[in-house]
Amino acid sequence: NETHFFKWEVEYMYGAPDCLENVVMGINGQFPGPTIKAKAGDTVVVNLTNKLLTEGVVIHWHGITQRGTPWADGTASISQCAINPGETFNYTFKVDKAGTYFYHGHYGMQRSAGLYGLLIVDVEEGKEEPFKYDGEFSLLLSDWWHKGVHEQEVGLSAKSMRWIGEPKIVEKMKAHNSWLHEKMKEVDSFGCSFMLRAFTLSLLINGKGQYNCSLAAAHNSGSGGLLKCNDTCAPYTLRVKPNKTYRLRVASTTVLASLNLAIGKHKMEMVEADGNYLQPFSVKDFDIYSGETYSVLFKTDQTPRNNYWISVGVRGREPNTSQGLAILDYQSTTPTKLPTLAPPQTPRWNDYQRSKLFSKKLLAHSESPKPPTNHHRRIFLLNTQNLINNYTKWAINNVSLTLPPTPYIGSIKYGINESFDQNSPPDTFDLNTYDIMSPPSNPNAAYGNGVYTLEFNNTIDVIIQNANMLKAGVSEIHPWHLHGHDFWVLGYGEGKFSSEKDEKKLNLENPPLRNTVVIFPYGWTAIRFVADNPGVWPFHCHIEPHLHMGMGVVFAEGVDRLGDIPNEALSCGLTAKMLMSGSGGK
Ligand code: C2O
Ligand code: CU
Repeated sequence: NETHFFKWEVEYMYGAPDCLENVVMGINGQFPGPTIKAKAGDTVVVNLTNKLLTEGVVIHWHGITQRGTPWADGTASISQCAINPGETFNYTFKVDKAGTYFYHGHYGMQRSAGLYGLLIVDVEEGKEEPFKYDGEFSLLLSDWWHKGVHEQEVGLSAKSMRWIGEPKIVEKMKAHNSWLHEKMKEVDSFGCSFMLRAFTLSLLINGKGQYNCSLAAAHNSGSGGLLKCNDTCAPYTLRVKPNKTYRLRVASTTVLASLNLAIGKHKMEMVEADGNYLQPFSVKDFDIYSGETYSVLFKTDQTPRNNYWISVGVRGREPNTSQGLAILDYQSTTPTKLPTLAPPQTPRWNDYQRSKLFSKKLLAHSESPKPPTNHHRRIFLLNTQNLINNYTKWAINNVSLTLPPTPYIGSIKYGINESFDQNSPPDTFDLNTYDIMSPPSNPNAAYGNGVYTLEFNNTIDVIIQNANMLKAGVSEIHPWHLHGHDFWVLGYGEGKFSSEKDEKKLNLENPPLRNTVVIFPYGWTAIRFVADNPGVWPFHCHIEPHLHMGMGVVFAEGVDRLGDIPNEALSCGLTAKMLMSGSGGK
């Protein structure tokens, strides 16, 4: 097995991910960050220096279980102290399972700032995957706002919260400001309106997007059909040969958007989800939520005289975003010719039935590990949107998560009880009387930072229960992600989970193993995992602003079994004091 060393510097820099110059968070001058490639069983070492000048930083290795190295999980306040400006932190961890993964910032809204990249783990030498292919490509999907990340954060945390998209402001300004009204009609040299330029977000594929409609314009006008965009935002191009099978790895690190991906004229076969093999099945398009990864196989069996669009569009929220595009290029000539066929249309955003059908088709490969047949503990987590003193928050069983200044991993290991609430948050909500179909009758909730302490090696079931938001008639999709483990997805259902009705419908035969799963509007999702990985692990909604507004819980298991935690993970809060007084740690 090999060890891969990296020296990384995180800093703000200029970039133009979607042709419009902006400030992005980059690694070693790159956005997205460099792709890490390793083989199962290898060790990855990243020496991360924070060059941000005024804010801390951490990086989470999404999907890597961090067995034996929970302090390298990269979660501020949970597995480590945020790395201060100028300081360097050493992330050393093993990548134990082949699959498609990624990494991203896990502090404040740094994912929205652009701190992310791919992490690809191949099978060990001599081992084979349960499918074959001639070549592979990786697509990292993200959404990108023109509004700066600090403004996004201030808006979310303000009394009378301002949502990061906030298209309503545009409407209001349009009505009240005639200057703006005139300005709206202006079109820039890209053929793009001022309004688009100022307010929308873009979908990015491998860090490239086109806010400006110029692609569509070029397509429609049939103007020679050659790519004109400059390099930074020209669509990512996959150069293929005819009559081959390719593996396409797709990871979504979106801040908010649920997506659907399709390749014009090409069918795909789903083979991997979150680093676990699937029972293969064929699709024309597939949904992917923030925090998820997939591998699909496709054959280049279409006429090689054409090129084809790969398109990505928004699901689950009324989109005011144009599709993200990449090009499947059958020719070996440069520059790439634009495809003559229009990009595949994304399914209607609110066709939840379609999304549910797709999610339920995802089943484990026959050789995938099966779940234990019984659970030791079942935790119900009710997701609600709340108002605490006019601040809009999300709460789980009425507790809105606020992270403490001392990382849990240190406080728990060294028994520093005053660093967080020692009462465990509730294991359930009022299952009998809570009406999930209506806005909360009492929208208030409490801030909290207590943890769920899991008995080591126990089998844990979690029923994630969705509900109506503050506004009547609305319930949203939330992709939930667990750190430190894969879990089995035992099932999805409508309405409130009922033990009599729904228990027997749970799939213990071939449930897929994953690290991220969605709850659908007004529905529930049941998962099972074994608490066998000593450490402190968040379980949270992967929509970054939702986590920022309290939508998560913290699990702790077997922390007493951990060896020495590196000092550099604990150099803040009460663990820093402990280290200075020499009363513990290493
Ligand atoms: Cu990819 Cu806790 O997140
Ligand atoms: Cu959410």
